[in-house]
Amino acid sequence: MTDELVSAYAIKHEAALNWVKQIADLCRPDQIRWCDGSSAEYDELCNKLVEKGTFIRLNPAKRPNSFACFSDPSDVARVEDRTYICSRRKEDAGPTNNWVDPKEMKQTLDQLMAGCMAGRTMYVIPFSMGPVGSPIAHVGIEITDSEYVVVNMHIMTRVGKRVMDVLGTNGDFVKCLHTVGAPLKPGQQDSTWPTNPTTKYIVHYPEERSIVSYGSGYGGNALLGKKCFALRIASSMAREEGWLAEHMLILGVENPEKEKTYVAAAFPSACGKTNFAMLIPPKELSDWKVTTVGDDIAWIKPGKDGRLYAINPEYGYFGVAPGTNEKTNPNAMKTIAKNTIFTNVAITEDGDVWWEGMTKEVPKNLTDWRGQKYDPASGKPAAHPNARFTAPASQCPSIDPDWENPNGVPIGAFIFGGRRSTTVPLIYQAHNWNYGVYLAATMGSEMTAAAFGEVGKVRRDPFAMLPFCGYHMGDYFNHWLQFGRDIPNPPRVFGVNWFRKDDKGNFLWPGFGDNMRVLKWIVQKISGKTNAVESPIGWMPHYDDIDWRGLDFSKQEFDRIMEIDREQWKQELLSHAELFERMYDRLPKEFIFMRELLLSSLWRSPEKWSLEPER
Ligand code: GTP
Ligand code: SPV
Ligand code: MN
Repeated sequence: MTDELVSAYAIKHEAALNWVKQIADLCRPDQIRWCDGSSAEYDELCNKLVEKGTFIRLNPAKRPNSFACFSDPSDVARVEDRTYICSRRKEDAGPTNNWVDPKEMKQTLDQLMAGCMAGRTMYVIPFSMGPVGSPIAHVGIEITDSEYVVVNMHIMTRVGKRVMDVLGTNGDFVKCLHTVGAPLKPGQQDSTWPTNPTTKYIVHYPEERSIVSYGSGYGGNALLGKKCFALRIASSMAREEGWLAEHMLILGVENPEKEKTYVAAAFPSACGKTNFAMLIPPKELSDWKVTTVGDDIAWIKPGKDGRLYAINPEYGYFGVAPGTNEKTNPNAMKTIAKNTIFTNVAITEDGDVWWEGMTKEVPKNLTDWRGQKYDPASGKPAAHPNARFTAPASQCPSIDPDWENPNGVPIGAFIFGGRRSTTVPLIYQAHNWNYGVYLAATMGSEMTAAAFGEVGKVRRDPFAMLPFCGYHMGDYFNHWLQFGRDIPNPPRVFGVNWFRKDDKGNFLWPGFGDNMRVLKWIVQKISGKTNAVESPIGWMPHYDDIDWRGLDFSKQEFDRIMEIDREQWKQELLSHAELFERMYDRLPKEFIFMRELLLSSLWRSPEKWSLEPER
């Protein structure tokens, strides 16, 4: 086996080689293969997945070079309750992460891993998060026994020998070990979606900068460059090294004078990052242009000039399919027109894909995400609510010319938003950095199928990082506060909520392209080109500060969506206190004062603060 390893392509990195050998000895695969990242390799493995019955080749006339697959029904999303941060000390993982002593966890995993790749090929994938060689980028090596993971990693990261070249003989890399946890006995027929139905572990060792994932083949559980490395391990690296690894999209806004501003925005899973990142302004505002740098993750480092520079560490999009259509996200529809992998969508009779919200009418004779003939009368969706597409970022029509700039793009503002049917207004701005950090830390969101928990219930999701912070959340807040102290003029911070509803449950805000109106105000606000009014929770636009060209949205409607109900906000502050109580030992003292100040500004009549007070 050793010879095979060395002969693949000359690996000069002894530590990497030794690690691969050690894992091979433990997992005992039938073969080992170093991935070169070539399109030949991609095609070969896609063909292999077709042969195995995992992939269905879509109709090349409709969806060139694209595939669909159905996961095991037990393996459809990240498993937050099986995700662990195994720092040496429990205190360092904090109250929001699962923790097990790393020694104990290693024993458990070593037992599970012994022989776990029997009957399978072990793939070694050197990958770069961020443009290869960029000073903001970092390298990982994923070992996996899943061809599905290899081809998805090809799209989502930069894979291949050139990454080993960056590492040289002794460069640092993050160890990412993944197995579906389904060894094959000799002659045993493989399933089309191998997984371990009973045992799953997504484990991070932040001090060692390594990851072990057992038993799942889906998304963030298995594509370890994404949430495991680029957020959980990277957030821990970032704290040590003075940068930020965030669950944020990055977009560029160009005004009619061709001035460019980049903003980064954190929304929880399935709350509209991809949509916002690829926004197309309404035609009346088409003198403004939005370009896409990233749709899920941002790595941000301070530059010598005191500004913050961000890269998208990813190379593709692993986006939510349901709800995506020509109206909500035309750029995404073009991005996924070819060379795309679809997981858990429905398939049409002519070999194309479909999901809820793609078209008004449900096509006849669909195959649903379980691979069965779809019965629209069943009341069940044809595509799984967390069905996703994997598509190359380069195919996005709105891709920013600087999306691969190794030095990143300068960030002018941070935007935070959750899914809130009540309480939180459409748009507000924090008075200063510290309050911005507070606003982000206390963000709440109603849960969706992408997250673990009761769908629809509000949970606090600080910075949209609750499931992704690799260390104590209190330390994370302090890191953000310190970050602001260390730079001369930190970016402005805004809160948004596209999801407020009326009493009948209808969205009050049209959203999607019309979010440009809010984005325009934000961009103008940071350059002092528009006005704002002070509210109890921050700065807000007047009705007239928003560009309403082409949208019939009355002053009354605006007042309604901007309203601050003092009683609701007092409840909100109570739940902030609940969050703080959980991390009392490391909570920034600023937060205590900030909460008191908010309370003092909310604690008075009238019941509702309004932009248009009744006279
Ligand atoms: P992850 O990839 O899970 O991190 O999520 P994401 O934040 O990229 O999610 P995505 O953009 O795929 O969000 C999809 C969901 O948000 C769909 O249900 C959309 O309909 C909804 N959505 C996005 N933008 C808007 C909006 O402006 N208004 C409303 N009402 N819904 C929106
Ligand atoms: C998310 O859940 O925030 C995602 C999808 O972006 S996954 O990669 O599966 O984590
Ligand atoms: Mn995400």
